[in-house]
Amino acid sequence: MLDGPDTNEGVWKSDHMVAQWVATATERERRRAEQRRLMADLLPFAYDEAFTFVDLGAGTGSAAQVVLDRFPRSEAVLAEYSPQMAAEGRRMLSGYAGRFEYVELDLSRGDWPPEVPTGVGAVISSLCVHHLPDRRKRELFAEVWQHLAPGGWYLNYDPVTTDDPVVATAWLRAGDRQDPEAAARREHPTPEEKIRHENHVRYMIALAPQLDFLRLAGFEGIDVYWKQLDFVIYGGRRPVEPDDPRRSGHRRAGG
Ligand SMILES: C[S@@+](CC[C@H](N)C(=O)[O-])C[C@H]1O[C@@H](n2cnc3c(N)ncnc32)[C@H](O)[C@@H]1O
Repeated sequence: MLDGPDTNEGVWKSDHMVAQWVATATERERRRAEQRRLMADLLPFAYDEAFTFVDLGAGTGSAAQVVLDRFPRSEAVLAEYSPQMAAEGRRMLSGYAGRFEYVELDLSRGDWPPEVPTGVGAVISSLCVHHLPDRRKRELFAEVWQHLAPGGWYLNYDPVTTDDPVVATAWLRAGDRQDPEAAARREHPTPEEKIRHENHVRYMIALAPQLDFLRLAGFEGIDVYWKQLDFVIYGGRRPVEPDDPRRSGHRRAGG
């Protein structure tokens, strides 16, 4: 974690920063295709099942889009607080008209608007929970639980930190070999890269406390379903009712 003022809103509500994000989206999504697909693979729905899911901090909808593709009768509620990201998302998702809506939601606060339905089949988030202070991460997971149907899943794809300097060095070593320009960017950042980086790491924490927050919220089936260096996909489901046949874990969630 980093001291200093919270710059998150300034970054994500800046025309310039969002334009930069959108300009680099294609290359980023190429690298993240496997993780996007896995999030969809983990959802317990049949191909032609109708269900609603929520994407928190949805940005331009890159994570939601893969779920919409995988399950052609699914519908997405894209929760986002940046008008610029939502505007880009509406444009990029125009081919899915009628299957998604953007809802304004500030995740740093606990008051979810009524446009975000309860009893949804799944909630996903990607690359956004690390922008929240710990108290809000913990509260958010409880709010997600409350919005899920029994048996509904929550999955989060996010970067994490480590307290172990040996692990941190190994992550850096491998990361630098995979991206030869990373070391130069880290050592000589442009003013904009510095702002982005500080905002990126400000509230980032280790994996273990985040799994604890899921447990505290009441999730079951908690696991780190994917991990590579400092990036993870973790999640779990809201338990089903005692007489629900899905207790065995083999059947689908409602939605
Ligand atoms: C790194 S982008 C990720 C966007 C998208 N989830 C993806 O995977 O491509 C982070 C997103 O989280 C949103 N975000 C950050 N803080 C937020 C908050 N407090 N409330 C709502 N959205 C937030 C930003 O506006 C931005 O769209």
